[in-house]
Amino acid sequence: MSSFPDIEIKKITTHQLQEMKNRGEKISMLTAYDFSLAKILDSSGIDVLLVGDSASNVIHGHETTLPITLDQMISHASSVVRAVRRALVVVDIPFGSYQGNSSEALRSAIRIMKESGAHAVKVEGGAEIKESITRILSAGVPVMGHLGLTPQSIYKFGTYNVRAKDEAEANKLIEDAHLLEQLGCFGLVLEKIPASLTKKVASNLKIPVIGIGAGPDADGQVLVSHDMLGINNEFQPRFLRKYANLNDVISNAVRNYIKDVKMEDFPNNNECY
Ligand code: KIV
Repeated sequence: MSSFPDIEIKKITTHQLQEMKNRGEKISMLTAYDFSLAKILDSSGIDVLLVGDSASNVIHGHETTLPITLDQMISHASSVVRAVRRALVVVDIPFGSYQGNSSEALRSAIRIMKESGAHAVKVEGGAEIKESITRILSAGVPVMGHLGLTPQSIYKFGTYNVRAKDEAEANKLIEDAHLLEQLGCFGLVLEKIPASLTKKVASNLKIPVIGIGAGPDADGQVLVSHDMLGINNEFQPRFLRKYANLNDVISNAVRNYIKDVKMEDFPNNNECY
């Protein structure tokens, strides 16, 4: 028996995201890695859920996004897909599963789509991964690009600082953004770049541009759910707006539970059989 009410819900598609951009409606996107949180985010009306490789840091406790495997991403994505009725589910192809050659990229994308039931994949980079993107698209798999600060390249950058501040890097980003659109990507994430550059890219591209730390002129915004909900309090970049402090809420609840157990207040007569 399904745990969902039997009502018809309109699913978000890549075409609807395009229509949202065309009519000037901003797109909302958050990360999700598990069934329970994905269900809350989806029923709250989020447009896009990203099964981000940030799960490597947020869920698995790694320092970077590099160690997470394709199998782990598929496992997270399957849990999210099972929870979702409305949102478009986009899954990051993890580091080392698409950059090397286009056949491997296609295999990785197909595994994600087939084994998790997700609706699209996301990859980091521009011209360097052109063949991989083309090959994935040729199989009918929608692809979202990701430019600017691309965490899978952290050891090339050396820091998580703002990207594309100088003219050469900004010009390369603009070229890459146009290339991704020409190849057929349905959308693009721009991470941690100057707001003026985002404005330029979003107004020149037809496809939706979703920003994170990229200013107000993107066609939509994405944040890591655990950051904006205040579960993870160690990460405090300037671009992050906190909508809750769940760290405190959970901590207080757990302290109260411990106190009640120690004081033999829990369980009481009504909580027994
Ligand atoms: O993995 C992730 O969470 C992401 C977002 C930061 C866009 O790629």
